[in-house]
Amino acid sequence: METFDLIILGGGPAGYRAAQRAAQGGLKTVVFEKRSLGGVCLNVGCTPSKALLNSATIYESPAHGEKYGVSAENVKFDHPAAVARKDRVVKQLVKGIAFTMKKENVTVIQAIGIIKGRDAQGFKISAEGKEYQAKRLLIATGSQPVLPPIPGLREGFEKGFCLTSREILDLAEIPESLVIIGAGVIGLEMAAYFNAVGSSVTVIEMLEKIAGADDRDVTDVLYKNLKKKGVNFKLSCRVVEIGESCVTFEEKGENKAIEASKVLVSIGRTPVLNGLGIETIGIKTQKNAISTDEKLRTNVEGVYAAGDVNGKSMLAHTAYREAEVAVNNMLGIDDSINYNAVPSVIYTNPEVAVVGETLESALQKGINARAVNVSMRMSGRYMAEVEGGNGIVKLIVDTENNCLLGVHLAGSYTSEIIYGAAMMIETKMKVDDIKKTIFPHPTVCEVIREALFEL
Ligand code: FAD
Ligand code: NAI
Repeated sequence: METFDLIILGGGPAGYRAAQRAAQGGLKTVVFEKRSLGGVCLNVGCTPSKALLNSATIYESPAHGEKYGVSAENVKFDHPAAVARKDRVVKQLVKGIAFTMKKENVTVIQAIGIIKGRDAQGFKISAEGKEYQAKRLLIATGSQPVLPPIPGLREGFEKGFCLTSREILDLAEIPESLVIIGAGVIGLEMAAYFNAVGSSVTVIEMLEKIAGADDRDVTDVLYKNLKKKGVNFKLSCRVVEIGESCVTFEEKGENKAIEASKVLVSIGRTPVLNGLGIETIGIKTQKNAISTDEKLRTNVEGVYAAGDVNGKSMLAHTAYREAEVAVNNMLGIDDSINYNAVPSVIYTNPEVAVVGETLESALQKGINARAVNVSMRMSGRYMAEVEGGNGIVKLIVDTENNCLLGVHLAGSYTSEIIYGAAMMIETKMKVDDIKKTIFPHPTVCEVIREALFEL
């Protein structure tokens, strides 16, 4: 039996980041990865979706060029070429992770790792008939799509009519029509892409708004923009059946059917725990996610869980930070995570980027909070670059402690701006100190500072 200081199950952002930091900290580390290093994020998530969305943005630009004095004819979109480029980007990044693992002397085993209990020497893992042991274990097995029990859905998947986010990123051609179930992050990003490149897109969402709990003022900006571009939204609707080439949904008590070339199911993700053997060492779960504390410890000493598998915040950057926190604690360096300042972005056009509390969530916690909402048109750069834009900045301020609680943005560059807001919230920066900070001009980010003077 081969022994290590740390066994990591899963080679996604949580797993590979933890492996890198653990090896740098002197731990003899092994990572088990059943598919491809980089996990969902690099292979079938963050990176490939952003590569495709960027191709769509380039394609869309000339179509709206005339108002900026640019005209172009015969602009064509080559979907297979966009997919091929996406694949090249993914390959390069995955290669980079493999190189990092090698450089740090991390052992990578391409196999499914299964927990087989523990003894005095540590936790036992089996993979392809071999056994491995370590005193420390990090579970970073990620998540998979939730598949609801809708009649006809299983058959739809078998026939390739229904798809998850994994398959849709590799479609050989643009479907004539696409029905998307779920107006969450995946649904909205894929709606933006396929609508831009020529599909007729309908999004069916059971709630009465898009993008879940994100602030309504910012999600309304995105909703209006996507609608204007041609995305058809069916809100407060429930899918009741998937047929041969159609989707039946209930709208105001009435069943309606819509034809589709393909159906994307994006109604959320759930941790990967089945068959993993966590019960052999007594790991506690809650709502199918491994329970962890702010140090990423599970209820079993020596076992940590980072990334989507703990269900706290299913984002790659959270997975990264959680991995660092877990490894620091393994190495005896006290560290803990603050989930109050995790930014999240919807990479559509316009982008939506949010961090911290909404007014509703702050008031629910009994905080004396106020909201200020200003147009991005206060920014000279936004005016110069976005003709007729309706972007907004909404700030939530703790009026008692005079600090920022939440920043909600819809507009251009917001994915690149939001980290600054996360820093202001994480460090509990005082509003007066933000006002004294000089922001560059002309930029979109200076609207955050301007908005504070509107309080
Ligand atoms: P994963 O990336 O899921 O990695 C887990 C790995 O474990 C997988 O590679 C899996 O093969 C492996 N594994 C599982 N079980 C075993 C086992 N028993 N033995 C061996 N290996 C195993 N997040 C963002 O922050 N920004 C984005 O723009 C973004 N875009 C996304 C777009 C899409 C379409 C999707 C689906 C997700 C997106 N996400 C995004 C979410 C992001 O991908 C996840 O939050 C992130 O990948 C979580 O990292 P992880 O390491 O926890 O898990
Ligand atoms: P999600 O949780 O973001 O959204 C799911 C949506 O589906 C919700 O609006 C929900 O109300 C709706 N829904 C649920 N059941 C439904 C039903 N039966 N019929 C109709 N609608 C239904 O989940 P999604 O989009 O699948 O993404 C999963 C996760 O992946 C995200 O929560 C996020 O953590 C991550 N992700 C992050 C991205 C980013 O950071 N840019 C991009 C893509 C994914």
